[in-house]
Amino acid sequence: MTEVEAHLPQRHVLVGVSGGIAIYKAVELVRLLAKEGFSPTVVTTAAGKRFIMPLTFAAVARAGVLDDDSSWQSSSGWFEHIEAARRADVMVVAPATVNTVAKLATGLADNLLSAIYLAFRGPVIVAPTANWAMYEHDATRHNLEILAQRGVEVLPAGEGDLACGEEGAGRMASPEVIMAAVRRAFAGLAAGTLAARKIVVTAGGTREAIDAVRYIGNRSSGKMGRAVADEAYLRGADVVLVTTRPDDETAYRCVVVESAAEMADAVARESAEASVLVMTAAVADYRPASVSDGKLSRSDSPELTLRLVPTIDILAQTRRSGLLRVGFAAEAGPRIDRARAKKAAKGVEILVFNDILAAGIGIGSDENEITILTSAREVHVPRTSKAACARAILDEVETVISGR
Ligand SMILES: Cc1cc2nc3c(=O)[nH]c(=O)nc-3n(C[C@H](O)[C@H](O)[C@H](O)COP(=O)(O)O)c2cc1C
Repeated sequence: MTEVEAHLPQRHVLVGVSGGIAIYKAVELVRLLAKEGFSPTVVTTAAGKRFIMPLTFAAVARAGVLDDDSSWQSSSGWFEHIEAARRADVMVVAPATVNTVAKLATGLADNLLSAIYLAFRGPVIVAPTANWAMYEHDATRHNLEILAQRGVEVLPAGEGDLACGEEGAGRMASPEVIMAAVRRAFAGLAAGTLAARKIVVTAGGTREAIDAVRYIGNRSSGKMGRAVADEAYLRGADVVLVTTRPDDETAYRCVVVESAAEMADAVARESAEASVLVMTAAVADYRPASVSDGKLSRSDSPELTLRLVPTIDILAQTRRSGLLRVGFAAEAGPRIDRARAKKAAKGVEILVFNDILAAGIGIGSDENEITILTSAREVHVPRTSKAACARAILDEVETVISGR
């Protein structure tokens, strides 16, 4: 068995922070980037440093911060602006002060941030923020238009209470909105095996109705499926998530279902044109033979016996050439032997095994420990985030597709 540290494809995001009060939100942005497996590098302006010490950014990014004093035009500096631009895949400027927006629009390069912008050739996202009068000034409007025409994604400032005590437009886009723009940028850059291929991912536990209000369900949180769908999106795939656990906004299409039968219908429909199906969902094996109308009451029958019948086998019904199927085997105990048998029985190209009894991983947790079985090899991914597990799984999917 091959054992891999779940390797993280490096996704470098250069985060330029300038001297606006919304800089405190940039700390959360950088934290989210690091948490989601991106590699953020912060470059701050001199004004930015007066608001927040670089150490804060360094700690959340787990990487050094670049600034005009320490990295650029100092005795230890080199072509830092060129190096930083080369390393980055995506550049974000948040907060973007009206001063920095003006520099970017006119092509000034008198600090590290603006010099990197000129040296950088990838997608740029700008999140402006200012007092409403500064934000709405013709000069600022004009500069933002120039940036937008140049292909920069300008995330408009929102309206509301402003830090200066006034009210109006000028609030910086939220870290979540900026994160969505970063993900979009990476999806647009993707050119790997999964790019533009349709991939259907299932997530969550199904619910099998007993009566109008009760159901038989399971504890699946849907996190593993969501992680696979998120990662596939970043690799440029056309993702459809069939889930019982709808999340807030996702960048891709979600089909919300409840029962195994509904999930089977949605998967059959969606996977007809797909290249890959990843069956992460915990689908019930049995459902009540009949569903009572209304609500069962204790006063009607002191005891209740439910007759259960098997549900549809979704993996079995989706077998067709041209569709690479990934199954999951959640076993109670270190039963990889059962996973190997399941892989053979289901005829799937890839089977992901995990032991749901192992401490701290699996159902409901943010972490997992998996073994990925393909016909060529077995890859063990030691305990790590579900995002990292998703990367390892999709690496194997890409390897299998490439080898066809
Ligand atoms: C308390 C305070 C808050 C400020 N907030 C903003 C802001 O939100 N947006 C902005 O454009 N400028 C703001 N400024 C002004 C900038 O800090 C100033 O224009 C500075 O020169 C920007 O430099 P930089 O773009 O190189 O970071 C603020 C200044 C102070 C003192």
